[in-house]
Amino acid sequence: MFARLLVLLACVGLASSLSIPQESFSTTSASSRAAPLDPYPSQPLLSFGASTPEKFKLLIITDTHLLDDQTVPGNASNVSRASTDAVRQYLEVEKPDYVVHLGDLVSGEVANSSAQVRDAVRQILGPAVEKQIPFSTTKGNHDNDVYSTHGQITDYEHELAPQLTYTRKAPAGVGGGSNGEGSDNYWVPIYPSKDAPRGSKPALVLWFFDSRSGKQLKSEGNGLIDDWVDSSVAGWINSEVSQQEKAWGSVLPPSLLFVHIPIQSTNYTQNLAPYSDEVGGVTDERPESFTSEGKRYEGLNVDKPLNTQGHGGEAGQYNGQDLPFLNAITKGKAGKSRLHAIVSGHDHGNDWCAPSNVTTAAAQVLPLCFGKHSGFGGYDYDPWNHGARIFEFDLDSVDKSVRTYIRMLTGETRYDTLIDDAWAKTS
Ligand SMILES: *[C@@H]1O[C@H](CO)[C@@H](O)[C@H](O)[C@H]1NC(C)=O
Ligand SMILES: *[C@@H]1O[C@H](CO)[C@@H](O)[C@H](O)[C@H]1NC(C)=O
Ligand SMILES: *[C@@H]1O[C@H](CO)[C@@H](O)[C@H](O)[C@H]1NC(C)=O
Ligand SMILES: *[C@@H]1O[C@H](CO)[C@@H](O)[C@H](O)[C@H]1NC(C)=O
Ligand SMILES: *[C@@H]1O[C@H](CO)[C@@H](O)[C@H](O)[C@H]1NC(C)=O
Repeated sequence: MFARLLVLLACVGLASSLSIPQESFSTTSASSRAAPLDPYPSQPLLSFGASTPEKFKLLIITDTHLLDDQTVPGNASNVSRASTDAVRQYLEVEKPDYVVHLGDLVSGEVANSSAQVRDAVRQILGPAVEKQIPFSTTKGNHDNDVYSTHGQITDYEHELAPQLTYTRKAPAGVGGGSNGEGSDNYWVPIYPSKDAPRGSKPALVLWFFDSRSGKQLKSEGNGLIDDWVDSSVAGWINSEVSQQEKAWGSVLPPSLLFVHIPIQSTNYTQNLAPYSDEVGGVTDERPESFTSEGKRYEGLNVDKPLNTQGHGGEAGQYNGQDLPFLNAITKGKAGKSRLHAIVSGHDHGNDWCAPSNVTTAAAQVLPLCFGKHSGFGGYDYDPWNHGARIFEFDLDSVDKSVRTYIRMLTGETRYDTLIDDAWAKTS
């Protein structure tokens, strides 16, 4: 007894000489103490400054649709190879710190076996794996079919590159569906520096949401499932955010959000001036070729009206289906910090960023962005070209703004934009 007391006193002495916060020795119960919050205890820590001082660059690949043959029988492997080569080229030119595959990695509906889906997933993730770039995925409506679920594809990622993939599944019961159709809801912390303590407050949080929309497994009758983020995700967001608050304090880090199928508000945004026409037209999307004066939001705007969550033929009528998750992230505690944008794929003919009619708890106008059709599978027209959207964050301004542009497969960049409050003010 006496000996243990001496050890305890010795520890306290050591603690003050190393200036370990006194709190770690307090007698309060574990539940009321701020525990480090690290969802990736066995993964490398992701941070600003890994390749360029004070910067973090993220590259978005979307809608590669591997296995699609572009209606030329027997050409699927050539089309898939062309898409994979395109991904490799974007990564070579941009050398990002992180890659997001934003859904429809594969065209699951043309697959004839699970092994085929697995090989296709390994192929399209190959360039990131070869270059050892950390990545994660959001699944799309084509990733889920007879031979694949979103959750199975996540399992393939973990087999292929357990140290590189940051894709996670939300706890069972969150996301909707019983086969992992809506499983991939998660967040990824990006720390301010390589030396930041694990679990400390990140400089940026990436949120990923699963908009489902696929067919059930064959054994379940191939029924259609919903094409929006399930309302159960709202409760999960609230509980994650309250853990974050407990660990990091009441001012949460800024965030960037990803979901494959865009929210309904993109329909409003699409019809904002200057979107009264197909901006740039089908044949030429270069900003210098736009005909109207004073356009502030550049991009290809050909899929009109857009296919959005709760809006597609699969789900029938829009009835506010996307609002539970959207309100949880924008109106709750997370919405008090900057939400840089919600980024989506799905509509291959659109590649713009523009403000939405959604305002956050901080009265910020929420920007909406599309990626850029990155591969050759799925519906595609040569004049649209192909590309990858980049988000580049600067540690000094991560609370206020982010630079974004598209790297085209033809080499040039387009639509270089600083997204901040001034940009979001519609004129
Ligand atoms: C696929 O590519 C190979 C090699 O370039 C070519 O010989 C073949 O004709 C292509 N297949 C089709 C259907 O175009
Ligand atoms: C097959 O796919 C490749 C890559 O997309 C394409 O270059 C080629 O023209 C396609 N073949 C035919 C016959 O369309
Ligand atoms: C699946 O089988 C069908 C029928 O044989 C074939 O047309 C199709 O190309 C196959 N799909 C793939 C991705 O190989
Ligand atoms: C989308 O906007 C168009 C106007 O361009 C409108 O006709 C349509 O009803 C809207 N769709 C939904 C689902 O809100
Ligand atoms: C935003 O626009 C969409 C599409 O027109 C509409 O359904 C929605 O109600 C609008 N939301 C707000 C908050 O005005």
